[in-house]
Amino acid sequence: MLILVTGGTGYIGSHTCVELLNSKHDVIIVDNLVNSKAETVDRIEAITGKRPLFYQADAADDNVMDLIFATHKPDGVIHFAGLKAVGESVEAPLAYYRNNLLSTIVLIDNCIRHGVRHFVFSSSATVYGDNQVPFLETMELRPRTNPYGETKAMCERILTDVARVNPGLSVTLLRYFNPVGAHESGLIGEAPQGIPNNLMPYITQVAKGILKELRIFGDDYPTPDGTGVRDYIHVVDLAEGHVAALEKAVPGVHIYNLGTGRGTSVLELVRAFEEANGLKIPCRIAERRPGDIAECYADVTKAREELGWEAKRGVFEMCRDAWRFEQSYEAGE
Ligand code: NAD
Ligand code: UD1
Repeated sequence: MLILVTGGTGYIGSHTCVELLNSKHDVIIVDNLVNSKAETVDRIEAITGKRPLFYQADAADDNVMDLIFATHKPDGVIHFAGLKAVGESVEAPLAYYRNNLLSTIVLIDNCIRHGVRHFVFSSSATVYGDNQVPFLETMELRPRTNPYGETKAMCERILTDVARVNPGLSVTLLRYFNPVGAHESGLIGEAPQGIPNNLMPYITQVAKGILKELRIFGDDYPTPDGTGVRDYIHVVDLAEGHVAALEKAVPGVHIYNLGTGRGTSVLELVRAFEEANGLKIPCRIAERRPGDIAECYADVTKAREELGWEAKRGVFEMCRDAWRFEQSYEAGE
């Protein structure tokens, strides 16, 4: 299939392009580079031996997207493009609603106009809010505490409504848990701008000496060791999940959790990182971060049974590959 990948030079998008190309699909990337670099296209080519087509363009620009759809006639779209910083979304809600909603509306509209039958959307476990773990696809969604999370829930709703009146269309909503790690080549990975908000990139920057110590946000949660529990998933497993979802897509709306089904606490992840890489991470216990929940992990039965997909890589590989990328990133940029 020929797949149009928006946000394809970003963290998850770039790994998915690699897996698509490795699975003999062709790829066109559309990315406006607000949070990534064009060199990623060279790196995807270096890993796979195949060069995806690349357009530096805004996925919310209807005229440009119409031209790209008309020129290439893709078989499917994977829509990663979006803004994703929770704190920033509270400060600049309109930028988040405009970018994340408009790009989704423009893309699904183009799919319908140009007869594209497969649409895969990057959603997030954040839509579950503080439900009872493990999170199941059938659970009623809880209100989010920030505009970023709202955009994910709203896009899910828009796409569901559109699919209802377009019976030939397949819409797959993938709810990611906590993607971490990097491709084992060390050529692509997560390179956040500024001080990272998320745990793994914070740990790798402490390991590298860019940041002094890790602040552990709360050790009094009702979890086994008191620190927050999350379902970390290796980004290459996540990328493989997209290929499985696309290849199994049938008309209708299909929702899948992409996680490992296992919870890991902050302290457990720090210890795993230290063991995997032979390093010490200075830590101190700090206040809880506002908006955080105690536990978040997936029920992954549906993805396993319907897509034949499950995560294969463990916390050791996640920590090893995240650190390898952090080191090569220093050398390469
Ligand atoms: P990322 O920032 O690395 O990648 C997103 C890419 O989209 C970037 O390359 C950026 O330049 C591009 N982009 C943004 N707006 C655009 C627009 N209007 N037009 C074209 N390109 C645009 O983020 P990521 O971690 O790879 O996340 C990909 C998707 O997955 C996002 O939608 C994100 O919300 C979702 N998601 C991410 C996580 C996570 O923890 N990383 C978790 C759940 C869901
Ligand atoms: C964050 C986002 C969430 C998004 C998810 C995607 C917030 C409030 N939530 O959630 O919307 O869907 O990423 O990956 O930003 N931690 C520390 N010290 C740190 C950083 C994190 O102790 O410096 C802890 C957190 O309290 C949490 C765990 O590490 O218990 C994971 O944090 P993080 O990587 O930010 O992910 P989420 O909290 O799941």
